[in-house]
Amino acid sequence: MDKIRWGIMATGRIAATFADAVNYVEDAELYACASRDEDRAKAFAEKFGVKKYYGDYGMLADDENVDVIYIASPMAQHYEQAKMCLLNGKNVLCEKTITLNGSQLAELIDIAEKQNVFFMEAMWMKFLPAFLKAKEWVKDGRIGIPKMIKCDFSNLCPFNAEDRLFKSSLGGGCLLDLGVYPITLACEFLGYEPEDIISNAYIGKSGVDFDASIILKYDDSFAHLTAGFDIECQNPAFVIGDKGRIRFGNWFFCTDEVMLYDDDGHLLEHFKKPHLKNGYEFEIMEVHECLKQGKKQSNINSLYHTTATMKIMDECRKQWGLRFDGE
Ligand SMILES: NC(=O)c1ccc[n+]([C@@H]2O[C@H](COP(=O)([O-])OP(=O)(O)OC[C@H]3O[C@@H](n4cnc5c(N)ncnc54)[C@H](OP(=O)(O)O)[C@@H]3O)[C@@H](O)[C@H]2O)c1
Repeated sequence: MDKIRWGIMATGRIAATFADAVNYVEDAELYACASRDEDRAKAFAEKFGVKKYYGDYGMLADDENVDVIYIASPMAQHYEQAKMCLLNGKNVLCEKTITLNGSQLAELIDIAEKQNVFFMEAMWMKFLPAFLKAKEWVKDGRIGIPKMIKCDFSNLCPFNAEDRLFKSSLGGGCLLDLGVYPITLACEFLGYEPEDIISNAYIGKSGVDFDASIILKYDDSFAHLTAGFDIECQNPAFVIGDKGRIRFGNWFFCTDEVMLYDDDGHLLEHFKKPHLKNGYEFEIMEVHECLKQGKKQSNINSLYHTTATMKIMDECRKQWGLRFDGE
């Protein structure tokens, strides 16, 4: 494989950011895109220099020149679209949250295994240099034993009944849109199998969660996590150990900086590495590495990890009694 040819399925907000990153990565070619509407596909192709465009998702899945498809539709569409791509023998990078629930995900993983293709959730946070540096500090014992995570992701989003964020039929709500990041962060530092999960949420007028609070309890450690559309936070994240602590820069999931403190609060190290383009280039490079090595999943963001975080989100929604339309 020389250049890896990408296809982008759906042409909304994140698809545009991702297209910029694909165009940045040297051994990537932004080969094709697809929209439900041919004019939108054409406009996207012209804007980002995409070679081929389709007004139908199925035609992209059928294009034999495409090496890997990035799915950038609302949550509720991921399952059908990923299934179509995987059954067509395509490698797939699917936006977060990968499916609405664990049973959809299990079915997709089964198909990906049978088809022997690469499959990963686009949890880009895990590939950012600041995130990897924090993991290195913990592995090297710089904060001792991690005992507590505090992490918020609240993003003020004025109610808009037409936006996917607020629509149950599109898998809206703050848990799948934002909460997946704090949950992933907690799992990376405390483990993917908490002993207990305690969660509550404010269910808003469109029937999805507008604000949510989650506690993950481990043997002798805790994660306190929040997510929501009703307030704007600085969205920091702390990993607190018995010998020191780590603080991610604000908007922890996309930050390019992270700080290490001793247990008296003295700054020991400040790591900062600006993104090369917009931060999404790092997950693209990981996909390329996996494809070049013939790997069907990433070690950094494995399907076990994605399954475990999905299980936590399923349990939260079970505790709130929230099901999506058509689920
Ligand atoms: N990694 C990140 O930082 C990040 C950031 C934001 C969002 N996301 C994830 O990316 C996905 C898309 O989010 P977004 O903010 O880009 O959403 P968006 O702006 O609403 O775009 C979604 C696109 O999906 C397509 N689509 C297919 N069926 C649809 C339907 N029934 N209703 C509406 N759109 C439909 C549309 O593209 P066409 O009209 O071209 O078919 C639409 O433009 C979500 O899974 C979200 O969680 C990730």
